[in-house]
Amino acid sequence: MTRDPSADSRINAEAIRRRKGGVPIVCLTAYTYPVARLLDPHVDLLLVGDSVAMVLHGHATTLGASLDMMIAHGQAVMRGSARACVVVDMPAGSYEASPAQAAAAAKRIAEETGCQAVKLEGGVDMAAQIAAIIAAGIPVMGHIGLQPQSVEKDGGYRIKGRTEENIAALFRDAEAVEKAGAFSVVIEGTMEAVAAKLTRHISIPTIGIGASADCDGQILVIDDMVGLTVDRVPKFVKEYADLRSVVASAAERYAAEVRSRAFPGSDHVFTTASGKDET
Ligand code: KIV
Repeated sequence: MTRDPSADSRINAEAIRRRKGGVPIVCLTAYTYPVARLLDPHVDLLLVGDSVAMVLHGHATTLGASLDMMIAHGQAVMRGSARACVVVDMPAGSYEASPAQAAAAAKRIAEETGCQAVKLEGGVDMAAQIAAIIAAGIPVMGHIGLQPQSVEKDGGYRIKGRTEENIAALFRDAEAVEKAGAFSVVIEGTMEAVAAKLTRHISIPTIGIGASADCDGQILVIDDMVGLTVDRVPKFVKEYADLRSVVASAAERYAAEVRSRAFPGSDHVFTTASGKDET
C-alpha cells in the first residue's frame, strides 16, 4: 500500500520543540517501509539514522552511509508512515565542509524524501551549518555527546562527560546547537548526571540514547530494541523482544520442511482450473 503524502497530518518539528519538559518524546530509528508502518502508530518521531549503514548494510561504522543511501531509506520510511515526524540523518562528508555544502545536501534530502527535518552531528563546530540549513527552511535536530561519525578520530566509542573539561565542552555544544536554532538535540553516550543537567540547561528537547531518563525523550536503534542485532549489543540498549531467536527458529523449521517436502503443503499451491484458489 502506498500512502498519499499530501494526506499526511504529521507531527512536525515545531510540535516536537513544544514538548520540552512535557510527556517524554518517543523516538526510534526506522530504515524500511514495513518497519515504519509497524512503528508509526506508537512513536512521535522516526529517525532514518545513518546507523542504517551498519544495521542493514553491514558497514563497520556509520561512515559507510552515503547521501543516496539516506535518501532511499528516507523515501521508504516516508511511504510507510503517516503520523510520525520523520528526521533523516545527514551522512558524514555531506555537510562538514561549509554551511553552503550543508544547506545543499539538506535541501536534496528534504526535497527528495519529503521528511520533516534533518539531523547532523556536532556542536560549536557545526553551528554555522545548522543555521544555514534552517535559513534554507529545513528544521534541524542536533546530535552531541558521543558522535559515531567521529569514532575513528576519537579512537573508539567513548562515553562523554567524565572530565570537567569535557563537561564544559558539552555545555558549549548544547548552547551552540540551541542558539543556531535546532528544534531538538540528541545526547548520545553521555554520563547520566551530565545529560540530566544539560536537559535542564537548554530550552529545546533533549533526546537521550545512553544518556538519562531525565532527557525530554529517548531513542534506540530499532534492530537493537527488538533483539535483531547479531553483533555486540551496547549496554544502554534494552531488548524488548528476541527476534534473533524468532528468525533463527523460523529459518530452521522452514529448512526442515523444504528438505522433507512438507512445504509447500496443499494450502500453499494452486490446484483448481477455475482460478478460485488464487487468494
Ligand atoms: O544513526 C542513528 O541511529 C542515530 C541514533 C543512534 C541517534 O544517530
